[in-house]
Amino acid sequence: MSWKNSAERWGPVSQLLHWLIVLLVLVLAIVGLTMGELPKTPKYFWVYTLHKSVGIIVLALVLVRIGWRLHAGAPRPVAGTPAWQARMASLTHALLYALLLAMPLSGWLYDSASGLRPFRWFGLVEMPKLSAPNESLSALSNDAHELLFWVLVALVALHAAAALYHHLFQHDATLTRMLPRRRGGPGAG
Ligand code: HEM
Ligand code: HEM
Repeated sequence: MSWKNSAERWGPVSQLLHWLIVLLVLVLAIVGLTMGELPKTPKYFWVYTLHKSVGIIVLALVLVRIGWRLHAGAPRPVAGTPAWQARMASLTHALLYALLLAMPLSGWLYDSASGLRPFRWFGLVEMPKLSAPNESLSALSNDAHELLFWVLVALVALHAAAALYHHLFQHDATLTRMLPRRRGGPGAG
């Protein structure tokens, strides 16, 4: 078994990174959207620290993922895919990568520019501030963090719908090649 991606399917490293990032983004979305409702008391600050800390993990994982993608390549489009669909998929994927970088960076910038208390990653390591306190930059990055999130939601909806459409109606390998092989299944080994 190769760790890399073959011409036909995604290898285990790309699969693990894809689904781990999906899971963490889901957790970040749920925590991010609900933490504003919590009372603004020191008792709840750790929820913000948790959100920020997991967000930094996503940033690191996305950098690893892009590096791995450049190293390990990608499968070619599933046979029979019209050229315009392949182009749409590539464009969506590029935008998803851009958003996966912009989300944590805008959050980190907001944390920096708003002059909040030091942000210690999981309470352990003090993270550098990306800028000096700056009110307009703080407002801008806060708006960007929220707006980009809704753009991400819309793109992910489109992306997941396309994957499910391929699986349920086209009956092709688009979705299954991003999933682990079933033991003993066709092409196992
Ligand atoms: C992929 C990574 C991330 C995702 C998907 C994400 C998602 C979200 C969402 C959905 C919200 C609620 C937005 C709103 O309704 O106002 C939020 C708020 C927030 N996020 Fe993130 N976030 C990520 C990374 C980060 C990082 C790395 C930091 C800081 C280091 C951060 C700091 C914050 C802060 C401080 C808020 C509260 C903003 C406010 O009170 O208006 N986020 N995030
Ligand atoms: C936070 C949510 C998600 C993000 C950010 C995301 C991001 C990505 C990105 C960037 C790629 C392109 C990989 C590359 O070319 O290097 C990709 C591929 C893929 N994603 Fe997602 N994804 C998400 C959720 C989902 C969901 C929910 C599904 C299934 C229902 C899914 C199914 C797939 C499949 C099947 C591929 C491979 C497509 C192909 O081989 O042509 N993704 N995803």
